[in-house]
Formats: sequence, structure tokens, C-alpha cells
Amino acid sequence: MLKKLSIRKRIVVVLAVIYVASIAVAVAGGGYVLLKDMEREAQEKTDLFAAVMSSSAKYLHNVIRPKAEKLVPADAYFPESGVGVLMLTETARYVQEIYPEYIFRYASPNPLNQESLSNQFEDGIIDQMEAGEVGEWKGFTERDGKSYYAVAKPLVAGSDCISCHDVPEVAHPEQVEQYGTRSGYGYMEGDVVGARFIYVPIEMVKIQAYQRILYFSIGFSIFFLLVLFAVDRFIVTSIVRPIEHIVSVAEKISRGNLDAEFDIKSRDEIRSLADAFERMKVSMAKAMDILRQ
Ligand code: HEC
Repeated sequence: MLKKLSIRKRIVVVLAVIYVASIAVAVAGGGYVLLKDMEREAQEKTDLFAAVMSSSAKYLHNVIRPKAEKLVPADAYFPESGVGVLMLTETARYVQEIYPEYIFRYASPNPLNQESLSNQFEDGIIDQMEAGEVGEWKGFTERDGKSYYAVAKPLVAGSDCISCHDVPEVAHPEQVEQYGTRSGYGYMEGDVVGARFIYVPIEMVKIQAYQRILYFSIGFSIFFLLVLFAVDRFIVTSIVRPIEHIVSVAEKISRGNLDAEFDIKSRDEIRSLADAFERMKVSMAKAMDILRQ
């Protein structure tokens, strides 16, 4: 098919194919690298967030709780002094005042606090954790129409959880009064009762990644258009025009005008071709002279 086209068109077609192939590879490769970058960056943020929160919980468990257990009367209701989930749920609210798009939450299909009720996405992950299919979960997800990177860690009920999460009759009356009896009870030791979810926003990073790919594509296209233009100019001046000139001179000679001259300034293959024609013209002139005599 290409053979039917002029040299100039053929080269343009080949260059166009190279352009399409290279931009496709560059965009796919660049997209992959940016995605991995985004994932790594988001993972670092969730790791840091998780470390800060777990460290606070550790402080609660190691320092505050043992002291509170001694100082607070046994029948007092003071879960803030010992329940890590409660402390971190509240701490996350303060964090959100500074970083509204960073979400840290404990989600459960059976919560005391209805704000911690798991949504469909979280339920799916908690179900997989219950079935033992996944330990920790991480990946990209959407929440309220925005893109997030999320990590989830299962929360398994231990014997120390039962005092508050077994049945309302056993729990502190003030807890029952505050949260009701509807849900948050019936924990069994060893059950996955919920999971800790951390969401970090990637909406902006994603938009920036798309922008970078777009700018690169525009830059690359402009560069390629310039290359295409330069190559085309080169072909026209170095190949097409000289060949057209040789053709027209050769035609004149073939019509008997032996004074027609080849005028090629370059010193390349085209010049060799013109020189060969020139020699042919001289030989032809000599042959005709001999014939005339
Ligand atoms: C002293 C009582 C107490 C103990 C012990 C306790 N919790 Fe809770 N837990 C609560 C309260 C109160 C909340 C509600 C916090 C809030 O308002 O967000 C809660 C919330 C939760 C939540 C979030 C969903 C919900 O129910 O609101 C999970 C999950 C949870 N607890 C799991 C556990 C696990 C696992 C343990 C054992 C390691 C445990 N809890 C021990 C009192 C307790």
C-alpha cells in the first residue's frame, strides 16, 4: 500500500505511525509510573496517620488507663479514660478540623455509635476479613464522589471487650442510656467486630497526574509536529525538488535539446545520478555526431 505513495507521503505516514505508537507507550508508561507514585505517597500518609493514632492509643493504654483504674471509682462511667476506639474517634474529629478530607474511623456493621455504622464498601471488606480472606486491606476507593486511598485493619473482639459489648444488661447503665440497646452488643471473643479505616484524599494528586500527562502529550505533539515539518522540508529540498529537476532536464534532452544542463549543487546520491545522466548525454551527443558523419 505504502509503495503507491510518493516518497514524501510515505515518510509522513511512517512518522505518523511512530508518533502514535510512541505517544501511546509514553502515556501508558507515564500513567503507570504516576499511579505507582500516587500509591506510594498515599501509603506513606496512611502509615504516618496510623502510627500517630496508634501511638496515642498506646499512651492511653500504658499510662492513662492503669492510673485511671486506680483513681476512678469502679462504678463510675468514664470510658474516655480507657477505650482506645472512643479516644481515637474523638481525636479524628480534631484532626478533621485541620484536614477535613482525612478520614480516620472505626466502622462496624453493629456499632454503639451510629456514626460508626459501616457503609457498603466497608461492609464488603469487613465481611472478607471475617471470612479470613484478607488481613489488612489497602487500595483506591470513592467516598462521597471523591477519590481516596484507603487502608483497613480488622478489629477482633477480645475478652476485655465483652464487659461493654456483650449485652446491655452487663454494660454500664450510662453507656446504655447514651447509645441505646439497638446495636453494639453481642460481641463474641475472636469475632471481627469492625475495622479501622484510614482514608487519605487523592483527588488533587489525581488531577495533577492527569494534568502532567496532558502537558507532556501536548509538548510531545508539538515537538513531533516540528520534527515532521523539518523532515518534510528536508525531503522536499534535498530529494523531491532535485529529482523533479533531473526529470525535467532528462525530458528536455530526450526531446533533442542536448544543451539542457543538470544543475545539482549537493554532493550526494542525487548528484551521482545527475552526473550519470550527464555522462549519458555526452555519450549520446558523441554517438549522434558519429551517426551524422
Ligand atoms: C469501657 C467500655 C468499652 C470497652 C471495654 C470496649 N469498648 Fe468498644 N466502644 C465503647 C464505646 C462507649 C464505644 C462508642 C464510641 C463512640 O462514641 O464513638 C465503642 C465503640 C467501639 C467500636 C466502634 C463502633 C461502635 O460500636 O461505635 C468498635 C469497633 C469497638 N468499640 C470495638 C471494641 C473492641 C474490639 C474492644 C475490645 C478490645 C472494645 N470495643 C472494648 C465501649 C467499650
